[in-house]
Amino acid sequence: MTNTIQAVAFDAYGTLFDVHSVAETGERFFPGRGQALSQLWRTKQLEYTWLRSLMGRYENFSVVTQDSLAYACEALQFDCSPEQAAELMNAYRHLKPFPEVASALAALSGRRLVILSNGAPEMLAAVVATSGLQKHFAAVLSVDAVGVFKPDPRVYQLAVDSLGVAKQAIAFISSNGWDAAGAAAFGFRAYWINRAGAPVERLPGKPVVVIRDLAGLPALVCG
Ligand code: LAC
Repeated sequence: MTNTIQAVAFDAYGTLFDVHSVAETGERFFPGRGQALSQLWRTKQLEYTWLRSLMGRYENFSVVTQDSLAYACEALQFDCSPEQAAELMNAYRHLKPFPEVASALAALSGRRLVILSNGAPEMLAAVVATSGLQKHFAAVLSVDAVGVFKPDPRVYQLAVDSLGVAKQAIAFISSNGWDAAGAAAFGFRAYWINRAGAPVERLPGKPVVVIRDLAGLPALVCG
């Protein structure tokens, strides 16, 4: 059944790129609290994507990421200057890929690969360019094209339209359990990269495969 996969769509943040690499910058500004900042920033960032989608008040991921940073700093009682906020936002544009990502993508080179992300186009362009991973991808797709965030089905449809491949023949790869659920509910073959060892989300849509990182992915997709 796995050899029916014709294309692979990847989530970006948390799946290819380590969102918590911003903790290093946070640590410089707020010693001992870099991880706390990174965790709350990410939590609020995702909440704001879901809430804005429900409110019908889309703003791109750059705005959401700035707003959630401001919230997290206030909640943690950090006096974050505009210069520090700008540097933290810049760190988000230069997130590190997880160590196994480049070799896994190289091993998948026989399939068409795309990124499908909440990220704003300019944020994605920056992080993909910095990481050196650009060459692996046929396209980098942003939710900005439909003005709503994951897990709205219109987002997943973007990959179908771009690839021109039936959704059942697309493997969707995400470390975010709720995103894997959303993609599976849409009709993709969802692979959940459960980096954190989290419990399965109690949501519609079940991933067909759960693995710990991307190292084992090529054998599963190509096997
Ligand atoms: C993304 C978020 C969900 O890249 O991590 O779409």
